[in-house]
Amino acid sequence: MSQMSAPTDDSLFLRACRGEATTRPPLWMMRQAGRYLPEYREIRQKVSFLELCKTPLLAADVTLQPIRRFGFDAAILFSDLLVPLEAMGMAVEFTEQGPRLPAPLRGPDDLTRIQSFDPAQRTDFVLETIRLAREGLGLTPLIGFAGAPFTVATYAIEGKTSKNFAETKKFFYRHPRAARQLLALIGEATLGYLKAQITAGVSAVQLFDSWVGVVSTDDWNDFVFEPTAALIAALRATGVPVIYFGNGATTILDRIGALGADVYGVDWRLPLDEARTRLASTARYPFAVQGNLDPAVLLGPIPLIERRAADVVTRGGRRGHVFNLGHGITPETPIESVEALVRVVRGS
Ligand code: CP3
Repeated sequence: MSQMSAPTDDSLFLRACRGEATTRPPLWMMRQAGRYLPEYREIRQKVSFLELCKTPLLAADVTLQPIRRFGFDAAILFSDLLVPLEAMGMAVEFTEQGPRLPAPLRGPDDLTRIQSFDPAQRTDFVLETIRLAREGLGLTPLIGFAGAPFTVATYAIEGKTSKNFAETKKFFYRHPRAARQLLALIGEATLGYLKAQITAGVSAVQLFDSWVGVVSTDDWNDFVFEPTAALIAALRATGVPVIYFGNGATTILDRIGALGADVYGVDWRLPLDEARTRLASTARYPFAVQGNLDPAVLLGPIPLIERRAADVVTRGGRRGHVFNLGHGITPETPIESVEALVRVVRGS
């Protein structure tokens, strides 16, 4: 047996996720393992992105890279949102221009091309990455993740990162029954996938709804809310905190609160205290917020970073705040900027 130390429930990160008071907010950053790190770029010179995701020794090492360098309060599994979509039966490629799915779903007849899957069979490399990362992390909690049903559906339908999501909306409006079936199917597959991550050793799970900012309130009510809330409820039944990050969705925060998550990721478009107030009108009590420094601030001068980060700490309040960026860190970010951020949040 290896010397395994599991994260305890009283880690700063898990306490904040439960809405408890902490002496300072725990800190991690979306996309913290990635191209802004020289040690990441070095590994990527030798292997492609998908190979990296599928090689547990390397993926676990990359998961640990930002923890070693900055001592963040939580690690996030190194993988990609499109990994489970591939496991559901869709071809996925990563190109210079981003992800490409060469055979997207465009109508009801295409639904037969995607199925639920056995995570131990189709995504064993992810579960092995989690087990290996856990061994290296000691007391630091590991966050598992998947895309929320809507965001995963946009990739299945558009075949790439879209600008206006016309194909997705066309599918929804012309084939509403099939669209709801698709979202339910993705939700079920994602539940099995995240439960397997929890069994393998993650202490919390985050659902990335990266493109939910493009839906109208009608589409939120007709299509998105139900499968997302159902997934969150089933995940919470396992006992781990569920973080829902709805990017670009500050205009519907009152509706998002009704999803029933433990923690709500907030992008940078609204001050964090205002976001908390809007969520509070519908959210369960207690709930926590995660965010929300604009990642672009890290491209500015150090005094600006210090000021803006301190403001986020203040607005986050003393309980139920996980410090994060408002979206993923950009590849151009200087290491010194992240170091300055860490100093401010730690108060050192
Ligand atoms: O946060 C982390 O450090 C964990 C790793 C992680 C990656 N992707 C690694 C990655 C996570 C959590 C994701 C999730 C993901 N993937 C999302 C949701 C998060 C978000 O930003 O809203 C989305 C939309 C994807 C799909 C995806 N993967 C896109 C659009 C791209 C291309 C854009 C880009 O940044 O290059 C990717 C590639 C990707 N995923 C990279 C990394 C480190 C870059 C690949 C490389 O090394 O070249």
